[in-house]
Amino acid sequence: MIPEICNRRSIRKFLGMPISEEDMTDIIQSGMKAPSSKNRQPWKYILVQGNAKEEMLKVFRRGIEREENESALLPESKQHIAAAKHTVDIMAEAPVIVFVLNTLGKNILEELTPEEHVYEICNIQSISASIQNMLLTATEKGIGSLWICDIYFAYSELCQWLDSDGQLIAAVAFGYPDEFPKERPRKRMEDILEWRR
Ligand SMILES: Cc1cc2nc3c(=O)[nH]c(=O)nc-3n(C[C@H](O)[C@H](O)[C@H](O)COP(=O)(O)O)c2cc1C
Repeated sequence: MIPEICNRRSIRKFLGMPISEEDMTDIIQSGMKAPSSKNRQPWKYILVQGNAKEEMLKVFRRGIEREENESALLPESKQHIAAAKHTVDIMAEAPVIVFVLNTLGKNILEELTPEEHVYEICNIQSISASIQNMLLTATEKGIGSLWICDIYFAYSELCQWLDSDGQLIAAVAFGYPDEFPKERPRKRMEDILEWRR
């Protein structure tokens, strides 16, 4: 197996050391090399660092507060809010946050026809491949990463702050790791693999 696949971990403790622009560019370029449905390349990346990151974290925390106390987008996921707060604290330690958008995506509150739904699923699969490429490239460079979907707990606030066309899909935190976790458990292959001959 490719070593980066075995060595990658979700990193939740980062050193303060910055990542060079050259490394971040390589990471994004590897994301752009992902396969995409009909080669639509529906991705857009917004890199957030420094003061912009501090501003974004405030917005994120305000969103979580709204989600907790009024008009929740995810009312049945309240039990995950504490984890989302922890994710924001992790992001505060990471020198770079990349937001990944689906430039062809619809508003998540919009009703979709089955065809639009399929189109959306294909674009999101393409973006997921792009994110995974970035995580593996970072691993190869000794840079840690965390794929983040807790952004949905502050979804409208973050979209407004990003002020960009397209649908926000995920964020990824990058930084030099300050922890080296063991591999997290995986399901047993015999439980999830079916050969049909
Ligand atoms: C789509 C997706 C969303 C995730 N969102 C978060 C998140 O918001 N916060 C977090 O701490 N980890 C998040 N993770 C990381 C997972 O918890 C992690 O991948 C999983 O526990 C397996 O651990 P590993 O990545 O070290 O193999 C996310 C991972 C994926 C693929």
